[in-house]
Amino acid sequence: MGCELSRFLKKVDKQVEDGACPKTCPVIPTQTLASDPRMPLTTRQKYSMLASWKAINRAMEPTGVYMFIKLFEENEELVELFDKFKALPRIDGEANDLSGLESSLELAEHATAVMATLDEGIKALDTVDVFDDFLRQIGRTHKRIPGFKKEYFSRIEPAFLESAKMTLGDRYTDNIESIYKITINLVIETLIKGFEMEDFGEISMVETIS
Ligand code: HEM
Repeated sequence: MGCELSRFLKKVDKQVEDGACPKTCPVIPTQTLASDPRMPLTTRQKYSMLASWKAINRAMEPTGVYMFIKLFEENEELVELFDKFKALPRIDGEANDLSGLESSLELAEHATAVMATLDEGIKALDTVDVFDDFLRQIGRTHKRIPGFKKEYFSRIEPAFLESAKMTLGDRYTDNIESIYKITINLVIETLIKGFEMEDFGEISMVETIS
């Protein structure tokens, strides 16, 4: 009898180790095993994301500024959506000259605000409801921007990945890149869902990032 029990427990241990433990596992409660269908990252990937993000968190402003410079380099027309950037001086009036932006205090402030939002979202990856509510709310606030289209959210993906690569250097491995890709796509999908939400009440940027 004792032998049968220890054989059974060994089998369960192995299944847990292999990540193949069935949802009806009698040892670990179901809630801890059933994954949320809204979460595309595995527990291990979430852990790696949070660990890697700590380095970005220590360099929010330069990472954010680089991200926006890349966004505007690749999508010049988007500068026009930002009242505070479009008026910045351009060398010889050239539309694609972004040199004024790089040193702009306005861009540093905006980039830091957007990075703080990403930071809050990423830190909430473990609580899908909090992640979802928070980023939907941010997505929804973009409705008040004249000319903004929900498709614009996905333009941030390459710029986000390039800026993470710049900050992480050697730590930006292929594995980390694929985890950052899954994460930014989840962020973008959630922002879009928020943007698509019906309006009930006033939309304010301030209430969401305070
Ligand atoms: C990761 C994706 C994004 C996040 C988390 C995000 C977040 C935010 C936040 C927190 C603000 C308010 C910040 C502030 O007032 O300084 C904001 C404003 C804004 N965002 Fe986004 N955003 C994202 C992507 C984009 C993209 C791709 C565009 C491209 C057009 C964009 C355009 C704007 C504009 C035009 C404003 C208003 C700026 C102003 O009124 O001063 N956002 N965004």
